[in-house]
Amino acid sequence: MSIPPFVASDPQSVWDYCEEMICLQGASFNRPLVAGMSFAFYPPSRSSDGMQCVRSDALRRVRPVPHLPFGETCEYVLSRPLQVGNDYHSQIWVATPRDGQALADADPALVLKFIVPSALRHPNEHPGMAVFDIKNGQYRYPADLVQCQVAAYLALEEFQGSTMAYFFGLHQATMPWGEEASVLALEYLPGPTFRAAKAALRSNPLTLKYRNFESYLALAESAITTVKTAHNRHIYHCDLREENILVDEDNDLAVIIDWHNNPRTIDDHELIAYGDLYDTGCTFVRCDMHREQLKKSLWTAHLDVFSTVYPDEVEDGWVEEDSES
Ligand SMILES: Nc1ncnc2c1ncn2[C@@H]1O[C@H](COP(=O)(O)OP(=O)(O)OP(=O)(O)O)[C@@H](O)[C@H]1O
Ligand SMILES: [Mg+2]
Repeated sequence: MSIPPFVASDPQSVWDYCEEMICLQGASFNRPLVAGMSFAFYPPSRSSDGMQCVRSDALRRVRPVPHLPFGETCEYVLSRPLQVGNDYHSQIWVATPRDGQALADADPALVLKFIVPSALRHPNEHPGMAVFDIKNGQYRYPADLVQCQVAAYLALEEFQGSTMAYFFGLHQATMPWGEEASVLALEYLPGPTFRAAKAALRSNPLTLKYRNFESYLALAESAITTVKTAHNRHIYHCDLREENILVDEDNDLAVIIDWHNNPRTIDDHELIAYGDLYDTGCTFVRCDMHREQLKKSLWTAHLDVFSTVYPDEVEDGWVEEDSES
């Protein structure tokens, strides 16, 4: 639990915090992050990289660990925005080493995810409600939101390099407008988002790969395995959708990003897990080309996912009827 930035039971303190956030937001419009800015950070040494999949339910780690100067301070320069603007909670940038500290033969790009408190939801809608909102998990302090995301990367560490991006630590940075932000340093994944991959299936005849059902199924299977393992470890994604899945086309893996992992405390975790499975199932089933085949595969191998997406058809025995016809 972080040190709260305001006293939730004191409306004046909540009010002052919101005023400060609004001021910082205004300042951020005038001096946003731009390409060429540099950030120093310290990628912690990685102890488990020599161990391949110590846990039996892990997917095999397939992407090599990017070459970073682990255990040393290094400086990275923002080179290309992936997501910027005031409509977003996070600013996402590709960054490259300032002076070639990373080995030249490896792709040295990183993703820096800047989580800026003033861009997050403020507790100001009903200042009198702050205590209640915090108690039931409706509102989380910025530092706690960040810790929820970090917890997912740590709990699923052996999936990094397969269905999770490599995570190179949580860092702090001062934004150009003077605000302190949290920064997640992550592996850069060049692959398309699952949304783009699905769109290409419909429109781009050159993108044949996922017209093959087995390849498409491999993506779905990798996502389902990851989400179910996460639930076994009390980690919940809470925002599973096409934009939060990147496709590692070389390995037919769905790389799940943007782990919110912030279910409200008042919610039954079984219900949250059900929601994640429903969202995962729908994300893959909503594809004209593969819907029917995937439905059958889910029925056979992942009845729990099938039953969230097609609850009525479970009762009706959909596949049995279908296979008889
Ligand atoms: N590791 C990565 N490699 C490549 N692209 C990435 C990576 N992380 C994020 N992106 C790109 O940036 C977009 C936004 O990232 P992300 O989903 O983490 O942010 P967000 O949705 O704004 O997060 P939040 O909901 O926490 O504010 C993704 O859809 C993806 O296109
Ligand atoms: Mg996202």
